[in-house]
Amino acid sequence: MLIKNLFKLFSLLFIIIISITLSACTQNNANSLESIKARGKIVLGTSGDYPPYEFHKEIDGQDSIVGFDIEIAKEIAKDLGVELEIKDMAFGGLLAALDSGNVDFVLAGMTPTPDRAKNVNFSNIYYTAIQAVIVRSGEENSISTIEQLNGKKVGVQKGSIQEELAKSITGVEIKALGKLPDLILELKNNKVAALIVELPVANAYAENNTDLAISSIDFPESDGGSAVAIKKGNNDLTETINQTLNRLIEQKLIDKFVSDATNLVE
Ligand code: ARG
Repeated sequence: MLIKNLFKLFSLLFIIIISITLSACTQNNANSLESIKARGKIVLGTSGDYPPYEFHKEIDGQDSIVGFDIEIAKEIAKDLGVELEIKDMAFGGLLAALDSGNVDFVLAGMTPTPDRAKNVNFSNIYYTAIQAVIVRSGEENSISTIEQLNGKKVGVQKGSIQEELAKSITGVEIKALGKLPDLILELKNNKVAALIVELPVANAYAENNTDLAISSIDFPESDGGSAVAIKKGNNDLTETINQTLNRLIEQKLIDKFVSDATNLVE
């Protein structure tokens, strides 16, 4: 009898402790859908160096971050009924910012690799691009195959899938930097021979810099799909974001945002 009662007491205590821990966990989640709605603001993490995805542009005399990722982020905020705040940082720091709760979601042309997916939630893919190589104008012919990169220095963004891609090319010396404009300078100053980025980005930089061109190198099976990254376990927020993405895809708005952003690139 005593043992039975003791057992009951312990089970009860166990249940109480578990429920307190669980509710503490949900309350502590400052980046949950509920917390975002309560605070009336969602914080986006991005790396504003990747036209037409996200880039700096002077609008009405003011430096702003524009691009199709930003338009998508605005729609996500709109559907949630909250304000959008943008935090610009190096691409390599985005996942840590998400993990520490410094930002609520990330749109930065980020490819949902299995490795990254271990530490974050990803939305569905909203856009796909292939990889391209930027070289100095006039060097397109001498650097037109992957083999011709052998023995050359190649610039990539730190922490990007392009860094991994470069590692897989025989004989390549890698220069990994945090921000794209610094890589562009390295290329212009003969410090590297080529840069690897997603094709729309290569087009944007090549169109604005007559001294840069796109090589005909292509990487089979190296598509860079873009997805929204959300803190691991924030499933409600991930679900809501997917709903917005589905709406934008159905309304063909993503295509429109991409072409609008491409037109904004000077
Ligand atoms: N898609 C590549 C990746 O996920 C590069 C993205 C770089 N984005 C940026 N905003 N600089 O690694």
